[in-house]
Amino acid sequence: MPDLQTRRLGRTGLEVVAVGLGAMDTPHSPEATATVHAAIDGGINFIDTARDYAGSEYLLGQVIRERGGLDFHVATKTFARSADGAQRDVDRSLSILGVEAVDLYQLHDVSTLDAWERSIDEEHGALAGLRIAQVRGLVRYIGVSTHNLEVLRLIVESDAFDAVMVDYSAFAPEPVALIEAAHARDIGVIVMRPVGGSGRTSVMRGQLDRGEAGPLTPANLLRYVLSHPGVSVAIPGARYPSRVRENLDTLAGFAPMPAEEQRALEIAARAFDAL
Ligand SMILES: NC(=O)c1ccc[n+]([C@@H]2O[C@H](COP(=O)([O-])OP(=O)(O)OC[C@H]3O[C@@H](n4cnc5c(N)ncnc54)[C@H](OP(=O)(O)O)[C@@H]3O)[C@@H](O)[C@H]2O)c1
Repeated sequence: MPDLQTRRLGRTGLEVVAVGLGAMDTPHSPEATATVHAAIDGGINFIDTARDYAGSEYLLGQVIRERGGLDFHVATKTFARSADGAQRDVDRSLSILGVEAVDLYQLHDVSTLDAWERSIDEEHGALAGLRIAQVRGLVRYIGVSTHNLEVLRLIVESDAFDAVMVDYSAFAPEPVALIEAAHARDIGVIVMRPVGGSGRTSVMRGQLDRGEAGPLTPANLLRYVLSHPGVSVAIPGARYPSRVRENLDTLAGFAPMPAEEQRALEIAARAFDAL
């Protein structure tokens, strides 16, 4: 196995291989379990799931049992905004995964100010629930995911989370400065949708197959994300082992992308979306 770059997931102190697996869509594949095993066998040690991803926690639970134990870091999430709801979800996740604790439990998609305010209510909010689960030893670290830049700024300024999950890519370069700010506060940064999401990548794969690909390829998109020093781990989604292997090959051959190439990729991404 080639040496794979690891990065520190902020204040959690976890050393994570810089390419993880986003297991949102993995269950929807005839090669679901093979994909997760290929990820772990290939060196990936960080896998993201959620209570809300149909079948995903069950899939990881099956893989954990097949492997005879947990040999990677699991991150999962709750859509609950209340303390009680979050604690119920932690209990469900642990029983489905078949583990005694998870490394990272995240508040899922806190993308409105209302969801943010409800989630951080000191007594009744979901964050308070996750803190209780943490004290009970069920959750090691607490994170949050958002698609909203204003909420992302509040998350970073609150300093209340060990890690934050952001949508960042050449298609969505806007969080760049807030990723730097999170990194400066030692908050781990997990990048969701690093290659632009399934709709775009299926078009890209068609272009690659026809020999029509320009600079906009999954490998270049992943290089773009990994080139930000504040990014701890990128979690491309995959339903097939071949994708996982390609993404690990990209990491194995990784060197930071020069700034001019990054700007060219952003321009290509805008042109792609304008078509
Ligand atoms: N917290 C949130 O609100 C939230 C929201 C969205 C996503 N996420 C997390 O982020 C993860 C990734 O997001 P995403 O799946 O939406 O977007 P993504 O990772 O940018 O794109 C996934 C798509 O890229 C394809 N792909 C991956 N590697 C490839 C390669 N080397 N060559 C060609 N195609 C490749 C996959 O194909 P196949 O599936 O066909 O293998 C899949 O269709 C999710 O699994 C989830 O964990 C979180």
